[in-house]
Amino acid sequence: MNQPVNITEPKRKLQVRSAAELTTSQSLVESLQSGRYQGYTYSYPHKTAYRWFDDPLPLRQLWEHQSLQSSFLYAHVPFCEMRCGFCNLFTTTDQSSDREERYLIGIERQAKAVRSALPAAPTITSGAVGGGTPTILSAKNLQRLFSMLTSTFDVDLTKVPFSIETSPETVNADKVGVLDANHAYRISIGIQSWSATELRAMGRPQNVQVAHAAVDLLRNSAVHKLNIDLIYGVEGQTVETMKRNIAETLQHQPDEVFLYPLYVRPLTGLGRNTRRVWDDDRLAQYRAGRDALLEAGFRQVSMRRFEKPERGELDASFAAAVDNLYECQRDPMIGLGPGARSYTSSVHYSSDWAVGRDGVGSIIDSFAEASDEYHAAAHYGAVLSRDDQQRRFILQGLLHETGLDFAAYRKQFGSDPMSDFAQLGALVEHGFSATTRQDLTDVMRLSPEGLEFSDAIGPWLYAPEVVEHMSDFVIR
Ligand SMILES: C[S@@+](CC[C@H](N)C(=O)[O-])C[C@H]1O[C@@H](n2cnc3c(N)ncnc32)[C@H](O)[C@@H]1O
Ligand code: SF4
Repeated sequence: MNQPVNITEPKRKLQVRSAAELTTSQSLVESLQSGRYQGYTYSYPHKTAYRWFDDPLPLRQLWEHQSLQSSFLYAHVPFCEMRCGFCNLFTTTDQSSDREERYLIGIERQAKAVRSALPAAPTITSGAVGGGTPTILSAKNLQRLFSMLTSTFDVDLTKVPFSIETSPETVNADKVGVLDANHAYRISIGIQSWSATELRAMGRPQNVQVAHAAVDLLRNSAVHKLNIDLIYGVEGQTVETMKRNIAETLQHQPDEVFLYPLYVRPLTGLGRNTRRVWDDDRLAQYRAGRDALLEAGFRQVSMRRFEKPERGELDASFAAAVDNLYECQRDPMIGLGPGARSYTSSVHYSSDWAVGRDGVGSIIDSFAEASDEYHAAAHYGAVLSRDDQQRRFILQGLLHETGLDFAAYRKQFGSDPMSDFAQLGALVEHGFSATTRQDLTDVMRLSPEGLEFSDAIGPWLYAPEVVEHMSDFVIR
């Protein structure tokens, strides 16, 4: 079972810049010539740099030297009611042959196997149920998933903030009842656009009235934090329609908004039919969206994330956990379900990854049938060298409002980030850092211009070996 499943689909290599684009101020300029929209760094190393390990790595060993005192629990639900034209996430619309039931039995088995393979009981301090679209599960199965997670990992959801993703057509009063009963702290709904024409252009079959009703339902629920996802850069979209999308979003009083630049990716509906690149449009629409949100009192947390100040008081420990909720990127992360990643400080692992229908289907089916012994080891992923860990630390800080914290870096690695990665100086020279050279002793934060270049600065900081692995990845 630790071999990739056989797939007969056409294979395509990912287009990634060559490993020769390295680490000097000059190379930043060269790198930017490949455009602003090179890649979203939501994880480092990227999942396309993962490979099968020569031998399975037992979880007991992997987790032995990790502090499990503050762990993030993630459960992936790999099902959707539709396959959107832009989306390359690990998900399928094919739920034939009892796939949902077999998946639930599989994730229950995996959770128990993982819990007993860990060297100690983890303390879960925050978590997320993501997808795909978790609310495609029936209300009963959604409750079953929450009950399984909380009982297996001893989580009290009145104290531990959990986030969940949803889509307009899969949410209803019964399911919101389940989310309320489980004290879901944050709910994130994908809207993408309030225009039927734009939804059609991005290949998302969504009814605008249903979308408004779904957001109303969530806003009237007990959830603390409501997030709305929008996409910009879609064919036919303009600065004017972007402003309209933001205005309609604000009518629903969200606490958070994510603005995603459209990426057209291999093996997606748009990827098969579209050749156009929309960099200028994306930039103008980003600026319009950002400015409208800032004006409405939102704070910019990263290139994509805008947040309203917390309503009401939160208990301090809860507030700290909440801070970590959105970028499910921190170590350690215990991931469950096919498509979920798990992170220790030196090894990231997951199931195999695919985009095409057959590839995703066979991975879900293999997962449903996997033995306890299989789940007690990592089979596919990336081993992070010290250099990878340092780059990951830098990327996580730099692309976020917190910035790259020099003292925290020194404490973790015993060296100085500016000596380890002298090329960071190029960010100051090109006006991408809000921190000047003289002040570069505490923290480095991106300037507004730097933030606009997040999707180029991220890939510029990837290790050449990681870039090489990513470009060799054959997507199926
Ligand atoms: C898991 S989905 C959100 C929940 C739910 N499945 C839905 O679509 O409503 C994650 C989000 O990533 C964004 N996204 C996915 N693929 C994208 C792409 N190729 N370009 C831009 N944004 C994308 C979309 O905004 C989407 O809402
Ligand atoms: S955008 Fe959401 S609903 Fe559409 S295919 Fe991706 S995960 Fe599924």
